[in-house]
Amino acid sequence: MEVIEVVGGAAVRATNILTPPAEQRICTEAATLLPVGTGDRMGMATAGNEPLEIALNPMPGRHLHDHLRALRDEHGPIAPVHFYGMPSYVILDYDELRAFFTAQEEFPGGEVYKHQLESTIGPTFISMDGSEHDVYRQLVTPAFRSRATTRFVDSQLTPLAHQMLDGIVSAGEGDLVTGFADRLPFWAISRKLGLPDGYEDRQRGWAHALLSELSDPEGAKVASAELTELIAPVIADRRSNPGDDVISQLVANDYNGRRLTDAEVLSHVRLLFAVGATTTSDALSNLLWTLLNRPELLRRLREEPDSRPSAVRELLRWEPPVPLLPRMALNGGVIAGVEVPPMSIVLGGIASANRDPGRFADPDTFDIDRPDTDVLTFGFGSKFCPGSHLAKLQLLAALEVVLDRLPELQLLDDEPVPEPSGCNLRSVSSLRCKWTAS
Ligand code: HEM
Repeated sequence: MEVIEVVGGAAVRATNILTPPAEQRICTEAATLLPVGTGDRMGMATAGNEPLEIALNPMPGRHLHDHLRALRDEHGPIAPVHFYGMPSYVILDYDELRAFFTAQEEFPGGEVYKHQLESTIGPTFISMDGSEHDVYRQLVTPAFRSRATTRFVDSQLTPLAHQMLDGIVSAGEGDLVTGFADRLPFWAISRKLGLPDGYEDRQRGWAHALLSELSDPEGAKVASAELTELIAPVIADRRSNPGDDVISQLVANDYNGRRLTDAEVLSHVRLLFAVGATTTSDALSNLLWTLLNRPELLRRLREEPDSRPSAVRELLRWEPPVPLLPRMALNGGVIAGVEVPPMSIVLGGIASANRDPGRFADPDTFDIDRPDTDVLTFGFGSKFCPGSHLAKLQLLAALEVVLDRLPELQLLDDEPVPEPSGCNLRSVSSLRCKWTAS
C-alpha cells in the first residue's frame, strides 16, 4: 500500500528508504506497469520523455546499474527521476554525492527519517540534525567502537554462525538466504543489544515491520509493542546489573553530564535493531550471490584467506544494499549546477557513485584487487554509518564460516537464481545451493 504524506504543504508520497518485503512484492508487480521507452521491461534513462519511476522498480541485477549509467550519460551528475510518483532528483557522481552528504546544513539528513520512522521507533539521532544529532550520536554510538565490536564478533557472532549452519550442513543442500543470510544478522544484533534469546523466528519480521511505518502503520505498531515488551525489562535490569551489551552502555553513557532517559534508550534500541540487521542481512545475501556466481573467485577465497576482506569491501562497492538514499531538500538549493526546488526529494545515488568511472577504473567489473576502496556505501560526513565496522566484520565472519563449513559449495544447477533487486534496500530473495555434506 502506498501512503501519501503531506509535508510542509507539499504532497509527498513518502516511503521507506528501507523497503519492507511486502512493498518489494508490490515493486515487482509495479515494474510491469511502468512506462518503458525501449521495450526493455526495466526501462532505461527515460521512458519516452518522462523521467522514469525509480522507487517502485526492482531493477534486478545489472538493470539498476545500466539505468543509472544511462541517466549519467544523458544528464550528467544529477538527473530527474520520479520517486513514488514525485518529481525528484538522483545524484550520480562520486564527488557530487560526497559533497551533498557533507552539506548537512543545506540538506539536513534527519528530515526524511522523521516522517519515515518516528511514530513507530520514536525520536532518535537518525532523525535529528545539527548539535542535537551530535549529542545523541555521542551518547549512543560508543557501543559500536572497534575493539568491542571485534570482541563481539569473535566471541558471539562466529559461534552463532556455526550454530546456524549446524542445522543445515548435513542435508548437503539448502537455501543460503532463507537459512542463513536472512537470519544471522537478526540474531547477531539481538545478542549485541543484549536482548534475550528465544525470539529468533520473529526478529526478521519485527525489524522489517518497524521500517514499514508508512506502508503498514498497523503492522509497525504491533511490532513496536511486541519488541517494547521484550526490551523494557532488560533496560530496568541493566541499570542494576550491567553487562557487556549495548543496552548496558546506553543506560550508563554520559556525555557532558547528559544521559539517555529510559524512553530514549528504548527508541534507540528499536532503531539499532531495525536498521542494523536488515542492511547487513541484505549485504550478506548479495555477497553470497556474487561469489556463488563466480566459482573461480570462490575457489581463490578458499585458498587465499587474506583476500576475503577485499571480497567483502568490493561487494559493498559493487552491489550496495542501500543503493539510493533519499533526503529532502527542505529549502531547496543548487546541486551540481542544478537548481533544486524546496521540498524536493533528492536521492543519493550510492550505487552509481560507487561505479563512477571518474573515480573507479572499469567500475562494472567485480575486482577484489582494485586499490581504491573508498566507497559511499555507508554514507559520508556526520551521518556516516556508526555500524559500518560491525557490518563489515559480520560479513567477513559469515563468509569465513560458510567457506569453512560448506565444502564444494555451488549453486544448484537446476534452479533459476534470483538476482539482487530493489532500489531502496537491495537483496537476493533465495539462493539454493549444494555442498558436500559432512
Ligand atoms: C551493510 C550494512 C549497512 C549499510 C549498507 C548501512 C548504510 C548506512 C548509510 C548509507 C547510512 C547513512 C544514512 C544517511 O546519511 O542518511 C547509515 C546510517 C546509520 N546506520 Fe548503517 N548501514 C549498515 C549497517 C548498520 C549497522 C550494523 C548498524 C547498527 C548497529 C547501523 C546503524 C546506523 C545508524 C544508527 C545510522 C544513522 C547515523 C546518523 O544518523 O548519524 N547500520 N547506514
